[in-house]
Amino acid sequence: MKRHLISAADLSRDDAVLILDTAEELARIADRPIKKLPTLRGRTVVNLFYEDSTRTRISFEAAAKRLSADVINFSAKGSSVSKGESLKDTALTLEAMGADAVVIRHHDSGAPHRLATSGWINGSVVNAGDGTHEHPTQALLDAFTMRRHLAPGTGGGLDGRRITVVGDILHSRVARSNVLLLHTLGAEVTLVAPPTLVPVGVERWPCEVSYDLDAVLPKSDGVMMLRVQRERMNAAFFPTEREYARRYGLDGDRMARMPEHALVMHPGPMNRGMEITAEVADSPRCTAVEQVANGVSIRMAVLYLLLGGAPGEAPAAAPAPTTARTEENDR
Ligand code: NCD
Repeated sequence: MKRHLISAADLSRDDAVLILDTAEELARIADRPIKKLPTLRGRTVVNLFYEDSTRTRISFEAAAKRLSADVINFSAKGSSVSKGESLKDTALTLEAMGADAVVIRHHDSGAPHRLATSGWINGSVVNAGDGTHEHPTQALLDAFTMRRHLAPGTGGGLDGRRITVVGDILHSRVARSNVLLLHTLGAEVTLVAPPTLVPVGVERWPCEVSYDLDAVLPKSDGVMMLRVQRERMNAAFFPTEREYARRYGLDGDRMARMPEHALVMHPGPMNRGMEITAEVADSPRCTAVEQVANGVSIRMAVLYLLLGGAPGEAPAAAPAPTTARTEENDR
C-alpha cells in the first residue's frame, strides 16, 4: 500500500481487498465489552477538519481511539485558520506536534494531495473528503457494506454486482471515489442523475450513465442515493424540489421495483423527502446506519495498515476475544 490515501485510485485490487479483510477482523472488536487494541499506542493521529462533518470526524476519532492512538481534533472554526493562517503553517504546527497521520477534510479539491506532496509533514495523509473530488474511506466503507450483503463469505471483490448511484453526482466526492473503487473491485456501476448534475468528462469514468431511474432499478443489486448538495450549488440545477423528488427520488413504489435482495444505501446526511422518503430511509433495506458502524472498522483498518501493520498481519486475527491484549489487561 502507498503511504498516503488520497484517492480511491491509489488502491490496487489487492490493497482494497486487504483493507476490507482487515476491517472484517477489526469489526469483531466492536462486539467485545472492551473495544480497544493497543496497536497504535504512542502514535498521534490529527483530525484536521476545514469543513463540517458529523459521521466522518467521529468515525475517524473512534477508529484511532480504538487502536489506542492519541487523537488531536482540529477544526478550522475557532482556530487560527479564521485569522488567515495558511494550510502550510497549520501543517508545520502539526508536524511540530509529531503527527504520525493527518486525516484531512477540506473544501478545496486537491488540499490532501498538496499536504501529502509538500514535504511539510512526514506522516501519512488520509483524505476525509476534499471539495467535490474524492472521499476514499467512504467508498471503502460502502464496498465493505456491499460485500457483506451481496458477496458474503467470499473474501474477494464485488465481481459482476450491479451498483446504481443516483443524484447529485456533479458535487459528490462520494460518487467519484465509489465509481473508481467499485470498478477496481469488479462491480458494474451506473450513474443516474439529471443531465445538469452529471460532471463534464464523465465519459472517461469507468461506468455507464442513465437518466431513467425506473429503467435501472430492476437491474440493481445496490442503489446508492446521494444528497443534493445545496451548499455547493451556485445556480438552479433543477426546476423545483418536488420535480427532483418525482424524477430522481427513491420512494416506496420505486423501492418495490428493485430486486428483493437489493440494498438501499446513503452516505448521510440525508435530505428526507428529497432524494429519499422517510419510508425508504427507515426501512430495513436501507443500510445508512450500518454504513456508519462499518465506517469505524474501515477507518481502523486504514490507520492500522498505514501506521502500524504489515500486509498479512491482521491485528485482530491472532488473539481470540478472551485472550486479546486489551487496554485493560495490558496495564
Ligand atoms: C458525504 C460527504 O461529506 O462527502 N458525507 C459523508 O462523508 N458521510 C456526503 C454528503 O455530504 O452528502
